[in-house]
Amino acid sequence: MISQTLREARKYEEALGKLIKSEERPSFHLSVRTGWMNDPNGFSYYKGEYHMFYQYYPYDSQWGPMHWGHAVSKDLLHWEYLPAALAPDEFYDRDGCFSGSAMELPDGRQLLMYTGVVRERQKNGGICEVQTQCIAVGDGMDYEKYEKNPVLDETDLPEGCSRFDFRDPKLWKKKDGTYCCLVGNRPADGSGHLLLFTSPNGFQWNYKKVFCANHHRFGLMWECPDFFELDGKWVLLTSPQDMRPQGFEYHNGNGTLCLIGDYDEITDSFAEECNQSIDYGIDFYAPQTILTPDGRRVMIGWMQNWDTCSLRISDHTSWYGQMSLPRELSVKNGRLYQAPLRELLNLRKNKTVHKNVSVSGVVRLDGVNGRKVDMQLTICPKDKETMYRKFAVRFAQNEEFYTSLSFRPSESILKIDRKFSGSRRAIIHQRRSMVNSKNGEIKLRMILDRFSVEVFVNDGEQVMTATMYTEQEADGISFFADGEAVIDVEKYDLD
Ligand code: FRU
Repeated sequence: MISQTLREARKYEEALGKLIKSEERPSFHLSVRTGWMNDPNGFSYYKGEYHMFYQYYPYDSQWGPMHWGHAVSKDLLHWEYLPAALAPDEFYDRDGCFSGSAMELPDGRQLLMYTGVVRERQKNGGICEVQTQCIAVGDGMDYEKYEKNPVLDETDLPEGCSRFDFRDPKLWKKKDGTYCCLVGNRPADGSGHLLLFTSPNGFQWNYKKVFCANHHRFGLMWECPDFFELDGKWVLLTSPQDMRPQGFEYHNGNGTLCLIGDYDEITDSFAEECNQSIDYGIDFYAPQTILTPDGRRVMIGWMQNWDTCSLRISDHTSWYGQMSLPRELSVKNGRLYQAPLRELLNLRKNKTVHKNVSVSGVVRLDGVNGRKVDMQLTICPKDKETMYRKFAVRFAQNEEFYTSLSFRPSESILKIDRKFSGSRRAIIHQRRSMVNSKNGEIKLRMILDRFSVEVFVNDGEQVMTATMYTEQEADGISFFADGEAVIDVEKYDLD
């Protein structure tokens, strides 16, 4: 049975979604059907298609009581909207259906596990959100909430754990058939940890252990965990709130964290070995991954950040929120590598190549412009003795606006800067990252899609992502060097 709340949301999104012209949206990144989108949810491959659900408030381009939006795709680049899957319509989730994940059951149905939210008045008059874990089961279109919801609540939590910060269940199945679920939570020390729950069937859940504790190392609460095996290692992804900077690796505010290590499936012990940011740009948060039928681990994140949402909100547009490119993951020498999904090559049109171009001052190149672009750029010094001091590429550029990437070989720092992209807000517009470069050589692959840039540095060793809402007429690209640099450019339009 579909509730009145869900029926209304479906009617509303169908009518309002149509009013947004396709040119007003990103072209090959999934954006919200109408209204507001945050985290990817229930990212899965089910019945021959990729499914993406997302945190969704259809009625406004700002965050509100969360629904789950829904879209499907055959190639992860062209998406078709389906009717919203979940609405906050039960006593245990009346103030929101927060983030969660999906899994196929042995009988072919799809299980969604999500966080139910209920606001509770506190003795001091304040309001706190009580969070529990809930289930819905469906066929890829319609989902029915389980009659025994919530399946995990405060009574399942060990001593000292918060019932207010208890969210974002990530499901997976172990080789022995046990269902596992990692949930973000806060222990009494106010830091974050991830709790492991197990189940014989996906419906009855039991607390197992603290899977991984933050101990105040990386921000406070850890949101939206994901966990998987890759290239002989185990990878734990999470998005910490309230981070403090550590060198150029982590920044203030909401960030992303990747822990790589080993996992013993018998004792459920995760032994961390290395840590790093997932994305070194400005707008990337709460990613989820899937295993594709051909065995690739593919990740998609929310291509925004809570700390910088005001960049767009003041515009009064009818949509806000887009997902990142699907990125193929691998682990090499204890590092997470990311590459744009290989199907993106199918969208390439109009190849333009410029080889061995000397850059000193500003240079523009024939055929190199656009806002839906795949551009591979290799930079090196003219000769080894005289190193250039700074190299920059400006894009989404016209007389008034531009966004830039700049690189100073003496510091080995790559900077993304959208200060002049048209923003009127006092938020973070720049971010710097330490990158690997030998003798001033660096390799960048930039993907632009109308409102965003994703920069894959040195074949995916690092990625820097930023959104920019500059008018689309600003489609220039130019290169600059202080000193003398030599570049190779291979550029395609994406369509
Ligand atoms: C992360 C997050 C999740 C929560 C959801 C609410 O971006 O805060 O922890 O489930 O967003 O919309």
